[in-house]
Amino acid sequence: MPKTFYVTTPLYYVNAAPHIGHSYTEIAADCLARYHRLKGETVFLLTGTDEHGQKIEQAAAASGQPPQLFVDGVVARFKELWTLLNISYDDFLRTTEPRHVRVVQACLSRLQQEHKLHHATYQGWYCTPDETFWTNQELAELAVAGTVSTSCPTCQRPLEAVSEEGWYLPLENHRLWLQHFLATHPTFVRPETRYNEIASLVNRPLPEYLCITRPRQRVGWGIPVPFSEGHVTYVWFDALLNYISAVGYDVYEQRFAGPWPADVHFIGKDILRHHAVYWPIVLHALGVSNEQMPRLIFAHGWWKVGEQKMSKSLGNIVDPTVVINHVLKGQPFAADVYRYFLLREVPFGQDGSFSEEAILSRLSADLAHDLGNLVNRTLSMIERYCSGKIPEPHAVGCALDDEPLQQAAVGLAAQVEEAMTRLEFSAALERIMRVVTQANRYIEVVGPWRLAKQPEQAPRLRTALSLLAEVMRVMAILLEPFMPSVAQAMWQQLGCGSRPRRLQDTARWHQLPVGQPIGPHPVLFPQVVAEVSG
Ligand code: MSP
Repeated sequence: MPKTFYVTTPLYYVNAAPHIGHSYTEIAADCLARYHRLKGETVFLLTGTDEHGQKIEQAAAASGQPPQLFVDGVVARFKELWTLLNISYDDFLRTTEPRHVRVVQACLSRLQQEHKLHHATYQGWYCTPDETFWTNQELAELAVAGTVSTSCPTCQRPLEAVSEEGWYLPLENHRLWLQHFLATHPTFVRPETRYNEIASLVNRPLPEYLCITRPRQRVGWGIPVPFSEGHVTYVWFDALLNYISAVGYDVYEQRFAGPWPADVHFIGKDILRHHAVYWPIVLHALGVSNEQMPRLIFAHGWWKVGEQKMSKSLGNIVDPTVVINHVLKGQPFAADVYRYFLLREVPFGQDGSFSEEAILSRLSADLAHDLGNLVNRTLSMIERYCSGKIPEPHAVGCALDDEPLQQAAVGLAAQVEEAMTRLEFSAALERIMRVVTQANRYIEVVGPWRLAKQPEQAPRLRTALSLLAEVMRVMAILLEPFMPSVAQAMWQQLGCGSRPRRLQDTARWHQLPVGQPIGPHPVLFPQVVAEVSG
């Protein structure tokens, strides 16, 4: 049986409501999951929430609620957003769920029983917003002109000096293994620049240990450490294990019941070190073999607002719900426009800049003017000239202009596949839209309205409209991972109802039944389309 394609998102912290950054990782993961389903594969898309730790405890205290009640409220907001964005997750894991807590505790117990943990007192620096440790050694390596900073090297916020007794996982012990693993798995981390970053990180000594516990009197909100009453689990150790706890990892048997290993872990670049260094080391310490390691960690870039970093203090946090309900007000497929913008605007892996103008301009140019117009014109002409039924093509009607468009549409899936294998969502969309532009140009050149005036050109007219309907069919399939509701609407407008859409059908021609009545076809991207269409 072929392996289930296993895609994960990070587990989002629930100290505040979701924003554009969270939605970006989620939409990318959903897009890939949908693409593999379209290919006929079985897919498992895991998402969820990271609910323990000091930062969440503090946010709950500030809201005057007990932590569990507080996180329940924020989790509901994440789930609502995923519904609004049409995220097709198969499982939503919350780190406060017993099924996860059990696995975390079993992993800790096993590591301790096998003497893989050290008990000691640790001195270092802690960044609460990032829930991340920095050792003196790490800060010294990053010192500028001999001055060691006490600001967080990732987010620049002040670090807190900590000296804590707890349990430690040796990192340096595993370094040579990780170095070799990376060398023999050159695509373990993508994009390549991120791989190089990690490879050079493990070429130097790592901090000797990672503290994986917290004293209960300082952080009360965490998974109790089974062998040490005074400690809870470090939130990162707890959260990373979600990738295996959700798919039925049996810690003692070292067996995976579900779709492990993960085919892609989607993350942002800020949590690369946790995923590409700590996570494989944790798995290695647990006895997981090289063959059972995750296959790919992809670190995407960050969204800024204009040129500024998003932050609470600047008050510029982009709320996807506001963009969808207000900036894109009146759009029947606003959530899909938002998905399209995020996936198309920047090459996946690079940083992006969000602005209302940028999203409105994509809506106007790519969606309303190009895609919307193509769909609208094709269906209106089938309505007008072919009594609203998919016309029959005529061999006699073939002309030189038809061949290149047909070939571009039939060959499009292969081009999309090439881009999607490299997780180049923007490039995949760019290729799809290029064929949309080509089809619009075809309409201008062939001028069906001119043909309609000459009765002897009826076969030619029907052939041209049949070709355009077939192009639209290909688009209604290929756009599904990116804009699921728009693609579904296009499918129904073609009169295909609930018939399944399969990627393999894009390489075949004449798949629409001749005579099939098209459906009602309100414009997909109104307002803007009214301004631009002629
Ligand atoms: N809880 C950890 C992840 C644990 S995974 C086992 C965490 N959570 S987070 O809520 O802070 O971030 C979740 C994801 O959102 C990360 O992939 C992060 O990169 C992404 N983003 C947060 N802000 C972002 C932007 N401004 N732009 C793009 N993505 C960013 O880290």
